[in-house]
Formats: sequence, structure tokens, C-alpha cells
Amino acid sequence: MSQQDVTRNSPRCRNCVCEYNRLEEARFWSRILQEHALFIKLGLPAGERELREEAQALIEIFMELRRRLQRVSRLEGQLLEDLIRAVRAIIEYKAKVLRNLLQCAAEPGSNYPLLLDHIRREAVRFLNLLQRPVPQDPLLMLLEQEVFWLRIMKEHIEFIIHLLDPSERELINQAEEFRRTFSRLLETARDLQSMADTKPKSFNTVLRFTQDVINNTRALRDFKGAAFELARLCQLLSIVSNPLLLDHVRREADKFLNELDVLLPEVRRCTSIPGQNEVVPFN
Ligand SMILES: [Fe+2]
Ligand SMILES: [Fe+2]
Repeated sequence: MSQQDVTRNSPRCRNCVCEYNRLEEARFWSRILQEHALFIKLGLPAGERELREEAQALIEIFMELRRRLQRVSRLEGQLLEDLIRAVRAIIEYKAKVLRNLLQCAAEPGSNYPLLLDHIRREAVRFLNLLQRPVPQDPLLMLLEQEVFWLRIMKEHIEFIIHLLDPSERELINQAEEFRRTFSRLLETARDLQSMADTKPKSFNTVLRFTQDVINNTRALRDFKGAAFELARLCQLLSIVSNPLLLDHVRREADKFLNELDVLLPEVRRCTSIPGQNEVVPFN
């Protein structure tokens, strides 16, 4: 057995990492989901009284869950059950609002259908994590994360482009550049994920690609942070309903970067050819 086989088959590589810290995840996502309910509420037409009340009820449910999550050191028992119930409820609520739009059964307000689907997918990911925290192969897990988050990052840019005032030409131009980059990265991540199904013993290209993803996501994170500051200082023309939305998407970029920080070293250790895993800049 080669050294590489020994590493790959070691219990740590088979059962990697990838055990999420569920309490940390819950604290992160419950804030995100509370904000989703707020964004939907702000985007609903004034006449949608019932849907607005439902959104407000969800905001309060997640506020309370967040208070409870701050007081515990483990996520278990009644709190875990209540959290799962609330996440299921908000997934169903988002699906209902989206369905209404798809069926032209309600006025759209300013909630884009793609935004509703986007935040529904984010909640589904969190629910899966709460229910099935099963460790997987680190390479497959890294690529799954990249495909999920790159789609999310690409959509954030698309929302920002559509929320900026048309006169914000410089910012729109920068955002268009990001959109092209992240569309390419997403397509590549999907290709690499498909190739990884063949279970290669090493796949160093993924390491190079991931470094590229990290560099671009850092730049996008900074762009979102700067846009949030401009909105907060009232120096940005847009129809963003609340500057919090820009901070929200910045936090999601940081979450993606944190996940990559955990997984990339694992993949480097378990599925790269020793001595050939330095990332060579490609310019
Ligand atoms: Fe979100
Ligand atoms: Fe998002």
C-alpha cells in the first residue's frame, strides 16, 4: 500500500472533519432565517396582511430561538426539535409565497421569485444539516459546498445588480464583472463535481480551483461590505429595502470562506498527491 493509500484510508480521512459544529451553525442560520422573514415582509405588497403577519410571527419565533441558542452549550432536546419545526415552517412559508407568484395568484410586490427560491434553498440546506450531519468524503463534500455556495454568490450579485439604481453605473459595472466570474466558477465547480464521481485517488486541480474560488470570494465579500457601508451612510442609490440585506449577503460570503478554510486542508491532506499539492498561481 502506498503512502497515499494509507493516508486516504485512515479513519480520519474516511470520517473527516466535516462534522459541523451544529450549535455554531444554528446560531448563524437562525439569524439568517430571521432576516429572510424580514426581507420577505418588506417586499410584500401592503395589501397582503395575512402574509405579512405570518412573516412577523416567524421573525419573533427565530428571535426567541436565537436567545435560547445563546444560553446553551449543546444543541439537543427540545431546543433542537423547536428549531427544526421553525425551519420547516419557514421553508413552507417561502414555498407558499413563491408558489403564489409562479401561479400569478398574487401581486409580486418587490420579492423576486429567484430571491424566494434562493432563501428557500438556504433554509433547506440548514435543515439537512440539522437532520443529517453525516460526515462524507472530504473531496466530495468540498465540491458540494462549492456548487451550493457559488450558485448563492452568483445570485447575490444578480440581486444586487437588479436593486441598484440604473444611475449607479460604476457599481453595476463592477457587479457585472463579478457575475461573469462567478458564473464561470459555478460551471467549473459542477464539472469538477461530476468528474469526482469517478472517485479519483488524487485530484489536485480541485485544490488550485478552490484557491481561485477563495480569492474571488474574498473580493466579492469586500464588495458587499463596501456596498453595505455606502448604504448605511446614505451614499448609495438603490431600491434595497434595508441596508441589512447587504450585510446579510456579506456574512454569507464569510460563511462560505470559513467552510472552505476548514475543508481545504482536509482535502489537501487526504486526496492530493504528496509533494504536488502546492498551489501554483495561474496568471
Ligand atoms: Fe440568505
Ligand atoms: Fe443568500
